[in-house]
Amino acid sequence: MPDPHERAAELRHLLNRAAHAYYVLDAPVMEDAVYDRLYRELSELEASDPALQRPDSPTQRVGGVPAEGFTNVEHRVGLLSLDNAFNRDDLQAWHERLLRVLDRPDDTRLPLVGELKIDGNALALSYRHGVLERAATRGDGARGEEITANVRTISSIPLRLQVNNPPEWVEVRGEAFIPDATFAAINAEREQRGEALFANPRNACAGTLRQLDPKVVAARRLDFFAYTLHLPDDAQPSSQWDALEWLNTAGFRVNPNRELCADLAAINRFCDHWEQGRHELPYATDGVVVKLNDLLLQDEAGFTQKAPRWAIALKYPAEEAPTRLLRVGAQVGRTGAVTPVAEFEAVALAGTSVSRATLHNADRIAELDLHLGDTIVVRKAGEIIPEVVRVLPELRPSDATPVQLPQHCPECGSSLVREGDEAATRCVNSSCPAILRGGLRHWVSKGALDVDGLGSKLIEQLVDRGLVRSLADLYRLDAALLASLDRMGAKSATNLVAALEASKQQPWHRQLYGLGIRHIGEVNAKALAAEFFSSDSLATAALEAPEQISELHGIGPEISASLGQWLGTPANQQLLKDLRSVGLSLEASASEQEAASQAGADTDGVLRGKTLVLTGTLPSLSRSEAKALIEAAGGKVSGSVSKKTDYLVAGEAAGSKLSKAESLKITILDESAFQQLLEQSQ
Ligand code: IVH
Repeated sequence: MPDPHERAAELRHLLNRAAHAYYVLDAPVMEDAVYDRLYRELSELEASDPALQRPDSPTQRVGGVPAEGFTNVEHRVGLLSLDNAFNRDDLQAWHERLLRVLDRPDDTRLPLVGELKIDGNALALSYRHGVLERAATRGDGARGEEITANVRTISSIPLRLQVNNPPEWVEVRGEAFIPDATFAAINAEREQRGEALFANPRNACAGTLRQLDPKVVAARRLDFFAYTLHLPDDAQPSSQWDALEWLNTAGFRVNPNRELCADLAAINRFCDHWEQGRHELPYATDGVVVKLNDLLLQDEAGFTQKAPRWAIALKYPAEEAPTRLLRVGAQVGRTGAVTPVAEFEAVALAGTSVSRATLHNADRIAELDLHLGDTIVVRKAGEIIPEVVRVLPELRPSDATPVQLPQHCPECGSSLVREGDEAATRCVNSSCPAILRGGLRHWVSKGALDVDGLGSKLIEQLVDRGLVRSLADLYRLDAALLASLDRMGAKSATNLVAALEASKQQPWHRQLYGLGIRHIGEVNAKALAAEFFSSDSLATAALEAPEQISELHGIGPEISASLGQWLGTPANQQLLKDLRSVGLSLEASASEQEAASQAGADTDGVLRGKTLVLTGTLPSLSRSEAKALIEAAGGKVSGSVSKKTDYLVAGEAAGSKLSKAESLKITILDESAFQQLLEQSQ
């Protein structure tokens, strides 16, 4: 009968070696049945004599009773985070900074190590005389939660280092993670049991590490890659590359996709390769970590507040990411339309940190069935404005409440209005500061009055301080006052006043567009300005004969109604008056008028420059067909008969327009006369 102590030690050695071969090397050396038999033998030995138990026994991986909570422990060596580079320019800038700090600006061939950035959770492992003594989460970097029992269940973490004469202490850092396939299996099982699903492998891993019951952790089959080694000074290797080798030899899994690069160009190639190649890996990575290889030089480069200067993480530009919805705010646009905005825990998307995204409108919120506390997926691709693409309802906390749209304007507090079947909710208080700011931004924008030097920040100051209450107030600002504002100097103030003065000469269609009337974009403003040469004539038409507007080419009843509503509002009439009093013409100059008439006259066709009115039902042509024929022949269709009308095309059941045309002695055509007229032109 062998000595039970010796036999137990032998069994621990055999089993640990087999586990290492299986979990770390992916090269099993023992059949499962043999492993199980030896494992049982060791368990029985330990059960017969508790003095035989050792912390590095494989039986200690899953053991113990559920914890009541975790205690906070101080790390022997603090865990740092990394600065991020979001693109190759950032990476290059980091490299230049590093060389400067090392006082070797021209030494571009300092070896660097390229490693994959594993998207998991950092762990700090402490070994004493070669045996795993303690494992902790990163926490705040200085202190973390002690989760040794859970970490012992991770089969690829050695309970005893495979080194002869291990140093008194060894600190290892690395990333715990859940491989994609394991993650899929965990979620599939949870779905079957009707449990909430995990959003992604990293969240699943974080949740697992904080499980109180190590048996649950064991069942989740976490994995671990080691990437940092701290040893007592005399034992420390001289480079990161050697440290990784040391870790590997000591029994850790070290990611094989690492490269010792001679310079930044080689690092860039490594990054290029893995930006694509990462999709083939069986686990998630969210970037590449670049580290200065030489540890002495690392020491020399030192640290900033929170991160080493000698390393950087190049993050892949994620375009979609899950995050947690914290609240829904609102943004008021220049037309008063209120856009709900999701505010969530910040995520890196397409190279920037994003914490707000548009929700478009109330309909979209309903469609998403959005709840506060929901896990949402947000997307930002390139220049595209971030948006919420979907909700993961299976992750919804049970007490989550549905998102309510604000009933009141977040800026001025007045009640919001939702008109008809419109999707937008609006603030209709014309003196709402948000509407004013938006209106000012629009007025000075490129297509409108194009005023240089009046950015959003300045507009905000002007409105907040009550210096500008309307568009007209802009023209009452003087340089001395402007110069006293934040970030304004005497020169920029004078330039701005000059730019505002010059803007008064902008053509009428730009002024009209600048007013920011709903539906009056640049094209419509041009069409209207070419027809109505002043705000007065436009107002008369809009209020007294809206059909003159609605029947203009490209302009319909909606636009005409919007103009009527805007121009019919006393506050807006006052605004026009004020703008005129500060020197804006709100009308076409003589040369603009000439150009407009010229443009009209240039149109080809027999009806060039002619205005026609349609009334009654024509025998074969529909209203829109007739209209199209007129426009094709260069004519215009008007909705009402006036002295300016050239022809009335009358069909069945013509009414008052016919009698009015007769009284004005206007030529009246039936359909065949109309067709004949058109044919003359061919
Ligand atoms: S080195 C000072 N190497 O990324 C060195 N970190 O964003 C700090 N990470 O907290 C860590 N893979 O959790 C390093 N190959 C790798 C890594 C890696 C993933 C994580 C780690 C760190 C975070 C920083």
